[in-house]
Amino acid sequence: MRRAMAVFVTRRIPAEGLRVLAEAGGCRVQQWDSEEPVPRPQLLAGVAGKQGLLCLLSDRIDREVLDAAGPSLKVISTMSVGFDHLALDEIKKRGIRVGYTPDVLTDATAELSVALLLATCRRLPEAIEQVKNGGWTTWKPLWMCGYGLSNSTVGIIGLGRIGQAVARRLKPFGVKNFLYTGSHPKPESAAEFQAKFVPLTRLAEESDFVVVTCALTPDTQGMCNKDFFSRMKKTSVFINTSRGAVVNQEDLYDALVSGQIAAAGLDVTTPEPLPTDHPLLSLKNCVILPHVGSATYATRTTMSVLAADNLLAGLRGERMPHELLL
Ligand code: DGY
Repeated sequence: MRRAMAVFVTRRIPAEGLRVLAEAGGCRVQQWDSEEPVPRPQLLAGVAGKQGLLCLLSDRIDREVLDAAGPSLKVISTMSVGFDHLALDEIKKRGIRVGYTPDVLTDATAELSVALLLATCRRLPEAIEQVKNGGWTTWKPLWMCGYGLSNSTVGIIGLGRIGQAVARRLKPFGVKNFLYTGSHPKPESAAEFQAKFVPLTRLAEESDFVVVTCALTPDTQGMCNKDFFSRMKKTSVFINTSRGAVVNQEDLYDALVSGQIAAAGLDVTTPEPLPTDHPLLSLKNCVILPHVGSATYATRTTMSVLAADNLLAGLRGERMPHELLL
């Protein structure tokens, strides 16, 4: 970097990531140094005239932001594996390079997916509540029963890095069959689990557990809808750790209330945060987490360093550790 490069960082991130930027010669960092998202006017003002933008999945980087940044903007680095918050068509048109953070959060997200699945199918939040509110009166044979993984069929929507890592962790629980669906069969990824590629409808019909780990795209938006839930078994459990918009939440609510499906566990919702009076929060058979899939200290630190490394490489015109090829 010959001239100093101006960079806007949209949030307080782990110190290690910021240190990488601070220690890179010739990088001038302006940061929205808060746990809370940068308000839109400050985002628009912050990016103006910058060469680099380090953002999060909660920042909508659309034409308005790109216009506010102006022609100086060369690199956008998102501290996330998901990139549905980026207007990729506009970004590509302007020749801006994009970095993202795959791989480093796979284990943490898969682990959380399994934790959420177990919490949901074995009704852990409900059971904990019973202990606290005096509902636990004695050991009862028919009380607090749920569904187990042993001998089950697990259907994975999106057998990518995270989907495979989920399957790898679930297999030792005694899962009998793995099914998966997606845009195309992935025989090499599926071999480890002898997972069978099936249409979405068949996955819904045959799975005891459905786990959504696909990216949000125009093809997957609203994919888990009334038709999908109506095909699921009444004893089946639905888990989503990808993006909220893959699910039609009204249809999910109806499926949970009517007993069309047994339970749902969601780490992602629309919107985020979910309003505290949202109908889904009134349901005992719906476990909702605040998008914490990648939330381990180590993972978030690694994500921040990778996002900083991507940004710097892009600004230097070098190969990024993880570039999203547009
Ligand atoms: C991502 O990175 O896209 C996850 O949703 C959060 O880490």
